[in-house]
Order: sequence, then C-alpha cells, then structure tokens
Amino acid sequence: MNVLSVLSRRTLLSAALGAALLASASVQAQAPIVIKFSHVVAPDTPKGKGAQRFKELVEQRSAGRLKVEVYPNSQLYKDKEELEALQLGSVQMLAPSLAKFGPLGVKEFEVFDLPFLFKDDASFRNTTATLGLELFKKLESKDIKGLAYWDNGFHVMSANKPLHTVADFKGLKMRIQSSKVLDAQMRALGAIPQVMAFSELYQALQSGVVDGTEGVPSNFYTQKVFEVQKHLTLSNHGHLAYAVIINKKFYDGLPVDLRTVVDGAIKDATTYANAIASTENAIGLDKIKASGKTTVYTPTAAEITEWKKALMPVHKEMEGRVGKATIEAAYKSAGFVAPK
Ligand code: LMR
Repeated sequence: MNVLSVLSRRTLLSAALGAALLASASVQAQAPIVIKFSHVVAPDTPKGKGAQRFKELVEQRSAGRLKVEVYPNSQLYKDKEELEALQLGSVQMLAPSLAKFGPLGVKEFEVFDLPFLFKDDASFRNTTATLGLELFKKLESKDIKGLAYWDNGFHVMSANKPLHTVADFKGLKMRIQSSKVLDAQMRALGAIPQVMAFSELYQALQSGVVDGTEGVPSNFYTQKVFEVQKHLTLSNHGHLAYAVIINKKFYDGLPVDLRTVVDGAIKDATTYANAIASTENAIGLDKIKASGKTTVYTPTAAEITEWKKALMPVHKEMEGRVGKATIEAAYKSAGFVAPK
C-alpha cells in the first residue's frame, strides 16, 4: 500500500467518524426531554386523569420536544419515597396529598387537615388561592416548585362497624396519612392512628392490621377499600387535595418556551382535574353503594355537632405544629367560624 492510499483511507475514516458523530448529535438534539410524573392513585381518579391530561397537553403543545411518562398506583415510589425521589431528580413531578409534606419539614401544609375547616369546595379553593400560594414559597428551599393545587373533595370515615357517634371510634386502629393533624384528629375521637403508605391500605384493612380509615370515595372505589370495609359515614370532616410539584432545578433548566408549555398545560389540566373531582367522587360513591358490600350512612346534624365538639380542640392543639398565624390565615380565607 502506498502512502497516498493510506492517507486517503484515513481521510475517509475520519469523514465517516465525523458524519456518525454529527448524526448522533442530531438524534440527541431531537430526543425529547422526559418528565417522569409519579403518583400513588389509580389512573381512573381525578388525580390520575389530571396527570394524563397534563401529559397529552404537554406532548401536543411541545410538538414532541417534551415527553411525559405517568407512573400511577405507587408503581415507582410509595408516599414518602416519592418525595425523596423528586428531590433527587429520579422523577420530575408528583402530586402528593397536602397531608404528606410534614416529613419534608414543611409542616404548614397540615393546616389543610384541620377537621371541619372547610364548609364547601369554594372555601377550600379560596384558601389554596391565597394561603396556598404563600406556602408554595416554603418549598423552594427544598428544591421543589409548587405548580398548582388539585382538589379531591371531602373525606369520609370507614370501618367494619357503624361510625355514628364519637364513642364508636373508641379503640379503633385507623389508617392515616403522615399528617400530625390527622394523628391528633383520630386521637381526639378516641381512635388509634396508624400512619401507612396508601399502597398498603387495602392489604392492611383486609388483614386487620388496621380497622378503618378516612378517605374519598374515588379512592375507596378504585383501591377496592369498599370490599374490606362494611360501613362508611359521609362525615365530610376533612378535605383531600394535592400539590402538583416539580423538581425546581429541572424546571429552571428547561428552555423558556418549554417552561411556558408546562405552565400552560398545568393551568388547563388543573381546571380539568378540579372540574371532574366532585363528579368522579359521586360516581365512586354510587358504585360503592351498588356493590352492596358497604353500608353508606349520612350522619344527623346532632351527630355532626357531637363530632365537631370532640374535634375542635385539635385546632388549638395544632397551633404549635402548623403555627397560629397560618391557622388564622386559613380561617380567614376559608370563612371558618368556630362552632359555639
Ligand atoms: C391517601 O394516602 O389516602 C391519599 O393521599 C391518596 C391520594 O393521593 O389520593
């Protein structure tokens, strides 16, 4: 082989290498940025459907530059783990219940768990729109950005015995989310609270590790809680809602136009998720009733008065946990008036 042919082979090789590098760079440039959105409930719930709507809007409006992978049903992470995963950047988005931010060191979100704080959905939404936005600022130092609040209606109570009066709760082991306000609430009723991940609820009820729980009908139905709980009381004593959150570094690192896509998609998915919440819960309740497995009870006004009497001291007791100023701000925006 002469010198010239060696040189031309080298030139050819380096040209080929260059072309390959260019091709791979352009594939990389076109590869979508992936947002992993993890949550703990079924796809067929207000949160599940909201996440799906967000995915569709983002992918369509970014023309494929952003890809959203939704992981429902604690498939990737359970309650506490998912917050850690978000901070580590293993997932980019979550929508945990407001009752689950305590372990992160942001206790103020537990104000939303104060029993009988909200009289209706409007009173809840007014509180997220005011105090809620202030609380989002507290997440920033945890590398988390709050994007929106999603509503999921009022809590009911369940057990394998009727729960009409406060005395009915005595000694019952009740599963709760990790909120200390919910812990105090169950103790005030004479029950024994047990913090447990949502993904473990069905098994725990089935095996008798706990006797009962509180929750919303859409979750009771989709997690089959109604199969292992004979009695449900429509107490509306608490309210379930989610903070849709994103890893702050990830969000800040997105190109400006894609951040705008995320913001717009969240706005529209929020409108959607909030609009379907009450209907989805009503449908869940109808299906639970139709199953014939759970007796659904509506408490009398006198019974609710008795529950409130037992539970109001929790508000004062929790001042040390969530802060007096936070509670007062919540009262104001919720239009809460303490019962006489
Ligand atoms: C629960 O743990 O009961 C709820 O927070 C689950 C959920 O996300 O709706």
